[in-house]
Amino acid sequence: MSIKAENRHHFGVSIFESSLPDFEAHRLEIKQALLDMRAQDTSGMKRSNQRGWHSHDELHQSKLPAMQWLTEQIFSVGSQLIRHAEKLPPEAPIFLSSLWGNINDFGAWNAPHAHLPCEWSGVIYIDVNENPEMEPNAITPGDIMFFDPIPVGAPYRPSATVNYTPKNGTLFLFPGYLLHMVAPHYEQDPRISMAFNFRLGSVINNIAR
Ligand SMILES: [Fe+2]
Repeated sequence: MSIKAENRHHFGVSIFESSLPDFEAHRLEIKQALLDMRAQDTSGMKRSNQRGWHSHDELHQSKLPAMQWLTEQIFSVGSQLIRHAEKLPPEAPIFLSSLWGNINDFGAWNAPHAHLPCEWSGVIYIDVNENPEMEPNAITPGDIMFFDPIPVGAPYRPSATVNYTPKNGTLFLFPGYLLHMVAPHYEQDPRISMAFNFRLGSVINNIAR
């Protein structure tokens, strides 16, 4: 499958943006699966989530058809982009090592964090407000924010952060070292996303030896 993606390339770092084909046909089923999971496991896991719910991180092994479809799509898009970015040969092993859901209710946010030691990480938006209310000179609620690894700003560097307002079906893929956070949102409807990590087989094998 050939994919369309843009490299947003901020701070000298690759931030790929893509959208999954046929995502809308599966979106509500994925959303419902995540809401059902939260109803079963209300406390979830504690990671970067502040007031928000974080599922367990092995949804790539779920037996639910919607999750299996999403896992295949994320793997296909992610592994092609990583192979391109890292100039890896076709036989180099790439693993999708974790996949989890995030449900942020009114006021919830995610603290700044990175995903090391995973080499590549990403997010896909399942159910978000694509047109949040903005205030002048303010961070848009619910935005994902990426931080410059050398956050000195002007006059030496561009602005130390770059923000994106999520859209349903949009996927971002970025190096696992890249610090990022999610701004709080103030909608009655939850902001639902899924996040994932990739590992490079060559790196894992070298560490194991
Ligand atoms: Fe993250």
